[in-house]
Amino acid sequence: MFGSILSGGVLRKALDRGLIEIKVHNLRDFAESKHKQVDDRPFGGGRGMVLKPEPIFRAVEKINRGEKIPVYLLSPQGRRFDDRLAKELARLSRVILVCGRYEGVDERVIESLADDEISIGDYVLTGGEPAAWVIVDAVSRFIPQVVGKADSVRQDSFFRGIFDHPHYTRPRNFRGLKVPEILFSGDHKRIEEWRARKALEKTWMKRPDLIDRKKLSPEDKKRFEEIKKERKQK
Ligand code: ADE
Repeated sequence: MFGSILSGGVLRKALDRGLIEIKVHNLRDFAESKHKQVDDRPFGGGRGMVLKPEPIFRAVEKINRGEKIPVYLLSPQGRRFDDRLAKELARLSRVILVCGRYEGVDERVIESLADDEISIGDYVLTGGEPAAWVIVDAVSRFIPQVVGKADSVRQDSFFRGIFDHPHYTRPRNFRGLKVPEILFSGDHKRIEEWRARKALEKTWMKRPDLIDRKKLSPEDKKRFEEIKKERKQK
């Protein structure tokens, strides 16, 4: 499942440059039975299959080799993954992400093996793999040098707590859709001011909760008041 995702893009480059390391382990390799069974029917009855504890414990113990690497189980019941958690994980030298499958994972994995559960959103995936991928991608961006300029991470939407300003490139007029004139003015101060306002305005329109949560700088506060006034007049 991870092969094609690792075959190109920014992460491939980061792997080739030795900035990050990703190892994918197959739980079946840690199954005890000769049929390599990793799941079984739930005790107490009910639908579906449950991932057995042994293959997961054995996999983690082998990867750990005496060291204690933090273990995160991917599940819709976990702590919500966001930019803050991505940064937190990026500070760790190694992490183990356990992908849940089928209807559930034996509760003893959650109670006694995992340090925490992580969810990437309020929806249920067929397995934890896409979630693991999302986490690997977002966390890698916080590893120094993975993303071109340190600046591009710092300017990112969530790094600043609000969205980035709108971006435009050639052509200047695309099917009658024009790029804002100010961007051709050559007046960098005015352009920066326009961008700061657009960033605030976009965030306010799309995610007002982010504005509520953020402590705005005095300049942003002033801009925000003006934006609200303008909107009211319209
Ligand atoms: N496994 C299934 N759904 C998930 C979700 N939303 N986040 C993380 N892991 C999951």
